[in-house]
Order: sequence, then C-alpha cells, then structure tokens
Amino acid sequence: MDGNGRWAGKRRLKRFLGHQQGAEAVHFVVETASRIDLPWLTLYAFSLENNLRRPKTEVSFLMRLLSAYLTSNVQRMNDNNVRIHYVGRTHELPNEVQERMQWAAEATQQNTGTTLTLALNYGARSELVDAFKRLYAEIEQKHIRLDDITEQDIQRHLYTAHMPDPDLLIRTSGEMRISNYLLWQIAYTEIFVTNRLWPDFRGLHMLEAIEDFQRRERRYGGLSDGSESDDVTSLPANQLVNS
Ligand code: FPP
Repeated sequence: MDGNGRWAGKRRLKRFLGHQQGAEAVHFVVETASRIDLPWLTLYAFSLENNLRRPKTEVSFLMRLLSAYLTSNVQRMNDNNVRIHYVGRTHELPNEVQERMQWAAEATQQNTGTTLTLALNYGARSELVDAFKRLYAEIEQKHIRLDDITEQDIQRHLYTAHMPDPDLLIRTSGEMRISNYLLWQIAYTEIFVTNRLWPDFRGLHMLEAIEDFQRRERRYGGLSDGSESDDVTSLPANQLVNS
C-alpha cells in the first residue's frame, strides 16, 4: 500500500494524513474483493523495515491507526463475510495491538468469503529465516532427513503455509521493486504496477488490474498453448552451437 507519504506531500499535508487516507482506502478494496468472491487478498501494511527505519512517532501512529481500523471495521467485515488473518513477526508488535488483532481475527473467523491477510511487521527474508529455523528443528528432532527436504517442506514452514501462492501482485505508486514482499511465494506471480498512489486506489482499480491479469498468458517456464516443440533430436553435435 505504497504512496501514502507522497499523497500527503502533493497536498502539502503531514504524512500521517496520507496514512489516514490510506487506511480509508482499505475498506473500498476489501469490499470489492468480497463482491467478486476473491478468495484471498493480502495487503502489505507494515514491513519489518518500516518498523526499524521509520521515526518512532510514525510507527506508533501506524499502530494506533491499525487498531482503530480493526475496531471500526470488524462489523463491516462480518457484513461482507470477510475474515482477517495476519502474516509477519506479529509477536513483536505492541501488546495492545496484538490483542486488537486477535480480537478481530476471532470476531471474523466464522466468515467464509474473502480472507483478508494483513502483512504486519513482515519481511520476506525474515520469513525465510524463521522457516529455515523451524525446518532445522525438525531435522534435529529427526522428523525429517536433510536429504529428503523438498520445496514443499520449506513452503509448509512459511507464514503463508495455509494460503495458495498469489496470482497477481499489484504495486501502487509506480515503484518497480518488490520491497522484500513474499519473495518465495511470488516466483510465478503476475505483477501489475500502477502510478496511482495507495490513498487514491479503489476497488475499480483493482478490477482493472485483474482484467489486465486475465489477458496474460501464464507459462510457468513452459511453452505457449498450441506451440509445438522443434524436433532437434537428430541435429548433429557440431551444429548445436553457431560458430
Ligand atoms: C507506505 O507508504 C505505507 C505504509 C508504510 C503504511 C501503510 C498503512 C496503512 C495504509 C494504514 C494502516 C493499515 C491498515 C490495514 C488500516 P509510504 O509512507 O512509504 O509512502 P511514500 O513512499 O509515498 O512516502
């Protein structure tokens, strides 16, 4: 959800007003996700790097904003059959924020529509570190042998173990980078970058991104549908490389 600061700066407003407007944008997008029966919507709300590198006042404002958002949106989530989950090192967040998060998760757990996942105090590299530590513990306890480890064993130790890999990643505010987000999970994810700043992002813009995604051909390293492979089995070795 990038671009809150720029949104405020363009209007000569303080950064916190950009975050406030950014929090407002969340429910529009969540409501649209619910209307189109999107099973999973994950929002990068607060990274580990945000936590470490932003001024304490901004971090504590974001924590209060998150708590306020949860308090005033649980009813709306229930009305829209949305349940809320979190990924990240959430145990490092302030206790009162963790309590609010747990309250919201419990209050929405019976919902069966869209799962809204908030990435909070999240970093993809630290997620991998945490996963490797847990996998190492399994090796030590002899639940698994080093030689038997597969991609699935790493996947089942990620915070997102219960979720499918994302089909589409939408990056707001025009930045052409991933910013330590779901690095393992996005191996074959389609990326859509929009110049629109997060506080101006609405459900309609998410639908435009999904429409663009639907026109893409996903090959997962394979060939396009209908294209035939050349028969090169009889090509002599001395003709393999152009000299
Ligand atoms: C990035 O914009 C945004 C954040 C670091 C915080 C996002 C948080 C919210 C939208 C509100 C709280 C969350 C919820 C779910 C209610 P930036 O400050 O990096 O913007 P800039 O790059 O333009 O400076």
